[in-house]
Amino acid sequence: MDARITSRLRKSYVLRDLACESDLNPSKFIMPVFVKESGEIERSRWGGMEKVPLKALVSYLEPLADAGIRSVLMFGLPCSKDPSGSSAYAAEGVVQQAIRAAKGSFPEIAVLTDVCLCQYTDHGHCGILEGESISREKTLSALSKIAVSHAEAGADVVAPSAMADGQVASIRAALDASGYDSVAIMSYSAKYCSSLYAPFRDVASSAPSFGDRSAYQMDIRNRREAIAEALEDIREGADIVMVKPAITNLDVIRDLRKRLLCPIAAYQVSGEYAMIKVYSDAAGVSEARVVLEMLRSIRRAGADMIITYFAPQTIAYLREVWD
Ligand code: PBG
Ligand code: ZN
Repeated sequence: MDARITSRLRKSYVLRDLACESDLNPSKFIMPVFVKESGEIERSRWGGMEKVPLKALVSYLEPLADAGIRSVLMFGLPCSKDPSGSSAYAAEGVVQQAIRAAKGSFPEIAVLTDVCLCQYTDHGHCGILEGESISREKTLSALSKIAVSHAEAGADVVAPSAMADGQVASIRAALDASGYDSVAIMSYSAKYCSSLYAPFRDVASSAPSFGDRSAYQMDIRNRREAIAEALEDIREGADIVMVKPAITNLDVIRDLRKRLLCPIAAYQVSGEYAMIKVYSDAAGVSEARVVLEMLRSIRRAGADMIITYFAPQTIAYLREVWD
C-alpha cells in the first residue's frame, strides 16, 4: 500500500482541505421550492420549507440566486384536488405558472420539477386509482401529460417520483413526441417507502387518505432491487438517477456509483432536515457542523448532486473557515 496512515495531514484545516477526498460545491445543490396559488408566504414549523405564493416567487428566489443557488426543484400546491389530479397538467396550473415566472426572471437558474400526482389527487396517492389500487395505464398517461406541460412552461429537467413502472419510458416518449427532446429526466429511481417524508406531506398536504405508499415505493430491506430500478430507468431514458432518503441509503448511493456512469442525485428529505434541526437544538451543537457532516457523508458515498432544504445555509457555511 502506498498510503501512509498518519495524522500529519490532519494538523490544520488548510492541510485537511488540501488532502480531502471529496468536497461539497454549491453548484451541486438543488433547493426544493413549494409554490402555492395564493395567500401569503407561510413558514413551516421547522423554519425552512416555506410555502411561497406565486406572486411572491420572484422576490423569494432573488436572495437565493444572490446567495449562489443555481438549481431548484419545484413542487406545486394546487388549490383544487380531484380523483385524477387534473390540476397537475393544467397549462395555468400552479407549477406551470411558477416555472414561467422563475425562468422569466432568472433564465440561468436550472428549473427541475417534481412529476407526481399526490399533491393533486383528493386521495393523496401518487397515481390514478381503480378501486383501491393504482391503474398503471391511466397513471402513465397523466404523468406524461404533466411532464409535457412542465416542459412547455420551460422546465429544464422533469423528475418523476410516482414510482409507476415504465414512467420514465412513457415520459421520454411523450417529451420527444412534443418536441422537448432536450428536456432531461431525473428519475426518483430508488425511492424508499419511508417515515422520513412526514414534514413534506404536512407542508404539501399530500398524505394518502387511506393506506400507505408501500405498494409502489421500495422496501427498505432491499439493496439489489435499487440497482435494478436504476438500470431499468436508464434503459428507459433517465439522464440522472436519484436515491431517497439519503442518510438511510448511503450504501445504495455507493452501489450505484460503482455500477453506473450517469450522474447520481441524493435527496436529503424533509425528515432528515427535521432531525438535524431538532437534534442540533436539543444537543446544543452547531447546526452548521451537523449539516456539513451529513452532506459530506452523502457526497463521500458518491452522490454527484444533492437535493437539500439546507442548500442556501450550506453555501454560507462553506464560505466560513472550519478549523
Ligand atoms: C411526491 C414526493 C414526496 C417527496 C418528494 N416527492 C413525498 C412522498 O413520496 O410521500 C418527499 C420529499 C421529502 O420528504 O422531503 N411523490
Ligand atoms: Zn407522489
